[in-house]
Amino acid sequence: MDLGLGGKKIIVTGGASHIGRAIVLSFAREGAALAILDRDREQAERTAKAAREAGAPGVCVIEADLSEKESAAAACAEAMARLGGIDGLVTNVGWNRPDFFLGLEPAEWQRIIDLNLTSVIACAHAVLPEMVRAGQGAIVSIASTAAHGEPRQSVYAAAKAGVVALIRTIAAEYGRSGIRANCVAPGLTLPEDDAAALGRQSMWHDREKIMNAAQTEYVVKATPLRRLSRPQDIANAVVFLASDRAARQITGELITISGGFGTH
Ligand SMILES: NC(=O)c1ccc[n+]([C@@H]2O[C@H](COP(=O)([O-])OP(=O)(O)OC[C@H]3O[C@@H](n4cnc5c(N)ncnc54)[C@H](O)[C@@H]3O)[C@@H](O)[C@H]2O)c1
Repeated sequence: MDLGLGGKKIIVTGGASHIGRAIVLSFAREGAALAILDRDREQAERTAKAAREAGAPGVCVIEADLSEKESAAAACAEAMARLGGIDGLVTNVGWNRPDFFLGLEPAEWQRIIDLNLTSVIACAHAVLPEMVRAGQGAIVSIASTAAHGEPRQSVYAAAKAGVVALIRTIAAEYGRSGIRANCVAPGLTLPEDDAAALGRQSMWHDREKIMNAAQTEYVVKATPLRRLSRPQDIANAVVFLASDRAARQITGELITISGGFGTH
């Protein structure tokens, strides 16, 4: 199916590495123009080059620390100016250091909330006026299966649950203005064996801290399909939801991409 994304103007936060990179490259193959917002300029430029080669008519990189709400808003404003408008916002940036609740320091609570929730609020707030003015636009936010509550994910889980509530509320408030807003919740999605896909600021750079082999095996065993999600599985759902042609009547939804993990 032609998703009708050719020439559409899409912002992807945290688009340099791993899941964000797969999302950027999937939009590029559909012929969309892209702005990659990421604090890792070097990796973002590498991904931008790959996106141009994959078919994106234009790709710009905007370096920003999206955990600061002013920087996030300014980066979105610059992206809209450079793209010449906006059709889609994908809020993908996120970070966690899994640990039991009492193992997290206050500075980490704040970092997790700032990057996973406040950045989404700031980016959505920055792009919505232009979307409302244009009478169209799609927002897709990357949540997590953790949003339902999962061990070692407490503050991150709370932030992701906040993202789901925010996006459902935006869908309810701005549907009448032609805006659709949805979430995609990945289950565990390990990086593939592809050095080009991970920048130095990806949380997976220190993989043992995020998910060791025993923990990974536990997740696979608890997954009905007995396999983990791949970045492309997540990207497929994102481009589907961003497409007004494919997902015209879908808003306020959460699609879980986890092989069934966390859904039973
Ligand atoms: N990978 C998983 O298993 C998994 C599971 C569920 C949900 N998620 C969610 O999917 C999204 C992507 O995760 P990922 O595994 O690809 O992450 P990742 O760490 O591999 O990549 C994150 C990207 O964001 C950038 N970034 C990090 N901090 C930033 C900041 N302060 N400002 C700007 N850019 C910043 C990094 O440079 C990198 O390009 C996140 O929202 C994450 O919570 C991931």
